[in-house]
Amino acid sequence: MAEATKTGVTNPLAEELSSSRHAKPCALVIFGATGDLTKRKLVPSLMGLAKDGLLPPGFAVVGFARRPWTDAAFRAELAEGVQQFGRSETAAAFAQWQDAIVFHQSDFTDKAGYVALKRRLEQLDRERGTRGNRVYYLATPPSAYSGILQQLAATGLSQETGGQFARVIVEKPFGHDLATAVALNDQVRAAFSEQQVFRIDHYLGKETVQNILALRFGNGIFEPLWNEKFVDHVQITVAESIGVEARGAYFEESGIVRDMIQNHLMQVLTLVAMEPPVALGADAVRDEKVKVLRAIRSLAPAEVPAASVRGQYGAGFCDGEPAKGYRQEDGVAAASLTETYAAIRLQVQNWRWAGTPFLLRAGKRLPRRVTEVAIHFKRPPHLLFDGARELQPNVLLLRIQPDEGISLRFGSKVPGPDLRIRDVRMDFRYGAAFGGESADSYERLLLDAMLGDSTLFARRDEVEEAWRIIDSIVLGWQRLDMQPQPYAAGTWGPAAAEALVGPGRAWRKP
Ligand code: BG6
Repeated sequence: MAEATKTGVTNPLAEELSSSRHAKPCALVIFGATGDLTKRKLVPSLMGLAKDGLLPPGFAVVGFARRPWTDAAFRAELAEGVQQFGRSETAAAFAQWQDAIVFHQSDFTDKAGYVALKRRLEQLDRERGTRGNRVYYLATPPSAYSGILQQLAATGLSQETGGQFARVIVEKPFGHDLATAVALNDQVRAAFSEQQVFRIDHYLGKETVQNILALRFGNGIFEPLWNEKFVDHVQITVAESIGVEARGAYFEESGIVRDMIQNHLMQVLTLVAMEPPVALGADAVRDEKVKVLRAIRSLAPAEVPAASVRGQYGAGFCDGEPAKGYRQEDGVAAASLTETYAAIRLQVQNWRWAGTPFLLRAGKRLPRRVTEVAIHFKRPPHLLFDGARELQPNVLLLRIQPDEGISLRFGSKVPGPDLRIRDVRMDFRYGAAFGGESADSYERLLLDAMLGDSTLFARRDEVEEAWRIIDSIVLGWQRLDMQPQPYAAGTWGPAAAEALVGPGRAWRKP
């Protein structure tokens, strides 16, 4: 049924928004369920699925954590989360589903706790019709992953028997560098086979990120231009106006390069640069994505200063409010050398992209929250018109968030007797075209994991290739003692980043 808008007019485009994907009955076990992620994202997203009729009728959630909470205390905490962070009408869905949510107290390494979990799950199979299917979600600090994986294997909970499924979703950070990612992949592999594993990167659950594939491969006009002959360079920006908030201690260990670039930005880069896959299946898509990463060579330490900039925010103003510097944040060392901004220039060395720089930047305490991909096209070979020198080259802008949409910048004749041209924009906005409220990225990803579709999850080789590239940059920073350069909160990062884009180019100021 097409959806009626507030004006009573039916939006025919919204018709495709209803989904026919239905998951089989299952129980979702969340390890580390008393943490922020469960309250802010996981349960509100499950209730979003429930509201849209996408949860299987046989469904249960088991919150597994160390704190001695009761079912009632757990549900009360989650109700608050749904109220605060859920989409509209999810509170009503929670009221309907809360009896299907239980709490299981245990240490992560205590075998008896897992034996008891198994019994509890069997009881839910009988009472809630979850039919022996399990999805495990590792939402603990990464240090607990190994113990959980070992116990899931030791108690047989990771095994798929009699046509029932057992899957594991692993939250980021997936390792701290290549060596730790390989070790973690080995631990995961000891308990689960690759097709049971879902490495989550919530950026892949965003509609606008998935739309990169739709734009490229669902249309005939873009793909012929999508290469080094026409594209001058590509800018991928993930800017946030928030600082590190309460996560200072975590951020000290990761820095922006591990927190955002190794995962979210590299994933977006692969979707922009990949070759057309032979099909939309999980392996066909990921085979092409990983080829992009393989085509990016590791940098030698001596190449790193010309290909990267590190920054750290000092005090300034953000969103009209005074903002303290990173070193004054809770949990951050007074002389910290962790970067809160990084910009890097990468080359995808294949036939399609040779010589076209991919410029990636991410930062905290920048002027505004914006994620975008800007495809900058080459200038026309010969300039015919007055003032054409001031014209900017064509840019195809994919606005991932907020103000989701796509726009194309091009030159147009200024009305009047002269033949003068000026930059104008052609604009598509998701909100205007499709209306409605879009689902949180975790909704899509939780549903996909329940369906066993891993297309939007990172495969082992992707994660490891992305770490190889990032490790080479971090090694250069360490060897050459490249310290982060200061920038004031509320500005676009250190001035040195301008040089990275190369002559005749500039970073967009969205
Ligand atoms: C997380 C990072 O993965 O992504 C955070 O750890 C960051 O530091 C967040 O704030 C940004 O996500 P989004 O969806 O708000 O762009």
